[in-house]
Amino acid sequence: MYEIMRKLPLNPEVTLMDIHAPHIASKAKAGQFIIYRLHELGERVPLTIAGADADTGAVTIIFQKVGRATSELDRLDEGDAILDFVGPLGVPTHIEGIKKAAVVGGGLGCAIAWPVAKALHAQGTEVDMIAGFRNRELVILEDEMRAASKGLHICTDDGSYGVKGLVTNVLNGLLENGASYDRVIAIGPLIMMKFVCKLTEERKIPTLVSMNPIMVDGTGLCGCCRVTVGGSIRFACVDGPDFDGHLVDFDEAIRRSRAYAPQEREAACRLLERGALVNA
Ligand code: FES
Repeated sequence: MYEIMRKLPLNPEVTLMDIHAPHIASKAKAGQFIIYRLHELGERVPLTIAGADADTGAVTIIFQKVGRATSELDRLDEGDAILDFVGPLGVPTHIEGIKKAAVVGGGLGCAIAWPVAKALHAQGTEVDMIAGFRNRELVILEDEMRAASKGLHICTDDGSYGVKGLVTNVLNGLLENGASYDRVIAIGPLIMMKFVCKLTEERKIPTLVSMNPIMVDGTGLCGCCRVTVGGSIRFACVDGPDFDGHLVDFDEAIRRSRAYAPQEREAACRLLERGALVNA
């Protein structure tokens, strides 16, 4: 069993937890993920590792309450325990040799972008961080992202905090004003990553994206997490989750991400009826 060492709500939808998993904490690198299962009949849920402390054995995860499994996790408290917590899985983000990077996070994607920015910053890379949210209430990790970057640029869809607009507007503005990057790393909704990649492809800036498709086993066996990259099938759990954004077939990934939308809506309705889910 894996004990919850710390629980911290970051906004009404998003929660941070430190889980005691020393074997993962001693090996985890930015960009890798875990799969948890709360109990014998629980769903297997992949979550990116937001941080790891080898001294305390803490592995930090950040999740949004969007369905049954994450809502059940959110109902647990410090001192409670999770049945399975497996990792680190996936290939760490390639950060070696990057001198100047723009790290772009959208919504909960900032929870994944932040550890990548932190790792880049720690190795001496100059990082511009762009973080987009729907509104002020949903902003997370502002101080942490600021500490991991040379400059943090926050934008919101409704203009209630930071610049009004999308992350692509901010990135375009920085590039128009003369910023140059040897790598852009974009993590967030598929549609956001698609348009960041369109922008950087025009400007020939190598761009990494972190794909988050449906996963089951997380070990390359089931094929659920397949993504088409450069015309070839790749598995996000073992080949990724990071891929060259200019080669990813985003339209296919968007179609596949909606495959279980009716079932997810039905499950969310059942949870709402039981008062177990907010903002589904
Ligand atoms: Fe099964 Fe990736 S989750 S192959």
